[in-house]
Amino acid sequence: MEALDKPTTRVSGRLYGCQIRTLAQDGVLTSTAAKLAQVGFTETLAKEGVKYNIICNVIAPIAASRMTATVMPPEVLDALKPEWVVPLVAVLVHKSNQETGSIFEVGGGHVAKLRWERSKGALLRADDSFTPGALLKKWDSVGDFSAGAEYPTGVANFMELLEDAQKLPPNPPAENLDFKGKVALITGAGAGLGRIYALQFAKYGAKIVVNDLMDPETTVQEIQKLGGQATGVKASAEDGDAVVKAAIDAYGRIDIIVNNAGILRDKAFGNMEDKMFKQVLDVHLRGTYKVTKAAWPYMLKQKFGRIINTTSTSGIYGNFGQANYAAAKCGILGFSRALAREGKKYNIYVNTIAPNAGTNMTRTIMPEEMVQAFKPDYVAPLVTLLGSDKVPEPATGRLFEVGSGWVGETRWQRTGGVGFPIDKPLTPEEVLSKWETILNFDDGRADHPDDPSAGTEKIMANMENRSSAAKKEKKSSEPNQEILANIDAAKKSKAEGTDFSYDERDVILYSELKLRASLQDRTNFHFRPRRWRKANRPPSCFRERRQLPGPSDLWCHPNFQRSCPLQHG
Ligand SMILES: NC(=O)c1ccc[n+]([C@@H]2O[C@H](COP(=O)([O-])OP(=O)(O)OC[C@H]3O[C@@H](n4cnc5c(N)ncnc54)[C@H](O)[C@@H]3O)[C@@H](O)[C@H]2O)c1
Repeated sequence: MEALDKPTTRVSGRLYGCQIRTLAQDGVLTSTAAKLAQVGFTETLAKEGVKYNIICNVIAPIAASRMTATVMPPEVLDALKPEWVVPLVAVLVHKSNQETGSIFEVGGGHVAKLRWERSKGALLRADDSFTPGALLKKWDSVGDFSAGAEYPTGVANFMELLEDAQKLPPNPPAENLDFKGKVALITGAGAGLGRIYALQFAKYGAKIVVNDLMDPETTVQEIQKLGGQATGVKASAEDGDAVVKAAIDAYGRIDIIVNNAGILRDKAFGNMEDKMFKQVLDVHLRGTYKVTKAAWPYMLKQKFGRIINTTSTSGIYGNFGQANYAAAKCGILGFSRALAREGKKYNIYVNTIAPNAGTNMTRTIMPEEMVQAFKPDYVAPLVTLLGSDKVPEPATGRLFEVGSGWVGETRWQRTGGVGFPIDKPLTPEEVLSKWETILNFDDGRADHPDDPSAGTEKIMANMENRSSAAKKEKKSSEPNQEILANIDAAKKSKAEGTDFSYDERDVILYSELKLRASLQDRTNFHFRPRRWRKANRPPSCFRERRQLPGPSDLWCHPNFQRSCPLQHG
């Protein structure tokens, strides 16, 4: 195989997002937000850089770390060395590479590419009959990827969608959602989309907290005039504590949050000042985080929460002049996905929308006739529905694009990729020799990773891929079907629980433990720490204590033994 030339100065402009998480994981909220922010950022730079031969890609490497060293055997760690990531990087920086704005998953000898897949979605007539209930009736089509899905690199054609939506008959009458007793907080609700969300939640009976940095009161009065209940809080969403406190002070609870406040500071990346980058990240990403963080304990306690976060197609696909906005908006997507995983068991659902509507924000980039046509009212029914408990499962962690009476869902698609044998070093030339297979979404092996384990399953399956065995058994590019099937079976299996029995004495011991634990003086009653067991005696300071009959782990202080219901010998 011909060796690749050494990189020259021509490729020095090639840039890499160091890592993305294609999939959110529990407990890694900040890293998921930060990593996904790199996707929006990099896709934007790819678009801006193309005419200057600046090529930008994102890699999601999986490599051995101090953390994985504690849980993985040495042979697996060996195959997760950075050496398995570097050859892909070499291919991407080489002057022959034309791939840009792409996302790769790499590690352990496996390389695959990811792209966005958007469903055909549901189209409803865009008029007053487009209600949350009407959308619920068509919900199955929203997430149906079986026909007409596309693989976009930008925003949908909302003008065409609107024209098609207006040709449809009125949407049939549907149930009205009921939000009585619920409190909805909407940030940036003084104008634009936020104002319409607030009016719609109020129409269906929710109490509304209108937050806006500029003027929340006009929306509050509008709601009150229509007979609804609302209170305003003039503050930045970045001051999440104050915003949530206003909700609690006024209504004593918070059930729904729409993180919607936003600003633009557009500039080609070369001219973007640090300040502009920071301002946009602060309002969008940090504002979303701060409001959600302040409300989270209330939602945990009441075991109910519905959070709708706002991204943008500029974040999902990148957009010229919006490196700051794209980073913030894609960061919000990563944040939302991680939070959806944390919240699910507490009935806190988190979804993300990428709206399209004519507002003051889009007035800066759309002709006025489009601003008038793309009414925020054609976005609001999705937000209201996501704020309810009516969305069929899976009802959390999803990403929707919405506007003009249309609602579609967007998800990752991943190629089957190539697994290289892990018993010989991988070179850039070998990666390049399989390049077409790595990029091939149409060979019937592509999948849709949607949980954290899916992010590593192909890489782990490749651990079995050795060149000698591979020759006999199968081509090295095929994933090990047996391992994939085992992983699949393990994911579907359900624990049956463990039977255990107890007698009267166990009950007394248990009650005793509870009784003592509730008393302030913890010195009376002790578990014997494991490390004492070796010497079979406690340290000298405990020696005067007498051991209880029965389980050797329990000790009772002599002062307590007189009142202890257990018979101490
Ligand atoms: N309109 C669209 O087509 C579109 C497209 C993609 C994403 N979005 C997103 O939708 C959201 C709403 O946008 P819009 O089009 O209604 O914009 P808009 O400018 O009409 O409304 C935004 C509101 O947020 C308020 N705001 C700004 N900074 C704030 C802060 N720090 N704290 C509280 N409030 C603040 C503004 O005062 C304004 O009332 C934004 O997050 C935006 O990025 C909109």
